[in-house]
Amino acid sequence: MLIFKTKSGILNYLRKNRDKSIGFVPTMGAIHEGHLSLLEKSKTENEITICSIFVNPTQFNNTEDFEKYPRTLDNDILLLDQNECQVLFAPEVTEMYTSGENEILDFESPLFSLLEGEFRPGHFAGVVTIVKKFFDIIRPTRAYFGLKDYQQFLVINEMVDYYEMPIVLVPCPIVRQINGLALSSRNARLDEHQLGVAPEIYRTLKWIKENVEGENMNKILRQAIKQLDSLPEVKVEYLELRNSQDLFTTDLVREGKEYILLAAVFVGKIRLIDNLLIG
Ligand code: PAJ
Repeated sequence: MLIFKTKSGILNYLRKNRDKSIGFVPTMGAIHEGHLSLLEKSKTENEITICSIFVNPTQFNNTEDFEKYPRTLDNDILLLDQNECQVLFAPEVTEMYTSGENEILDFESPLFSLLEGEFRPGHFAGVVTIVKKFFDIIRPTRAYFGLKDYQQFLVINEMVDYYEMPIVLVPCPIVRQINGLALSSRNARLDEHQLGVAPEIYRTLKWIKENVEGENMNKILRQAIKQLDSLPEVKVEYLELRNSQDLFTTDLVREGKEYILLAAVFVGKIRLIDNLLIG
């Protein structure tokens, strides 16, 4: 696997490979099977796959979360190499942010300010800022994103539409542990007890999905939140049913339409997100 730490290094490599299809998998590292599933898909669809590892400071609205975010570069390199990633781009912060605050993009769009956007102000501005920087450098044919971060996928889609970028965004299914817990780099920060209760998030989403039809949605959601909050160390930040296309609120479930249950839940100090499509 080729490893580049500078923009000039990867640009030089890309200059010689612009005739090939390029799949791009952006990550913040602490590589797990969720990330690797994106890599696998990209490898089947492109001649070259490039992964990036960059813990992007501008998308963290909480200093402790940024500082404690797991950084395991040596192990990540091993995993990506074993899984036949051809190129890794792993720049330092100073390589990606050179001209200060005015670089941060933002969109006056509801998608950026609801749910994750409401509870993590500035988060999506940071996400689209870094993803656009990577897209401008790499100019991939296709870019791979996990539906674990469902709203992030919609936000990046909006950014790509806005700038009319000729990039195909490929949504990839959520990879879970056998007990249902969605894989996440932040799971590495859960202790043994917390790892025991965290799978309740997905179990609750499934319970709601099974009970949603013909029922009073708000009642079911209230009951589910109460159930989760009653567990030790668990605190629901939001658990909502939304339209899957625009994430607008809905209190009815109609046949033939697609909805999504979205949750952000603290387990101890660790904030986990998960979701489940309905319909
Ligand atoms: P990160 O959390 O490292 O995730 C990188 C990619 O892996 C994202 O597209 C995410 O949705 C996907 N992913 C994470 N867990 C997954 C799982 N259990 N199943 C399937 N896919 C999963 O998302 C980010 O980094 C950053 O915001 C980034 C896009 C890199 C911008 O900084």
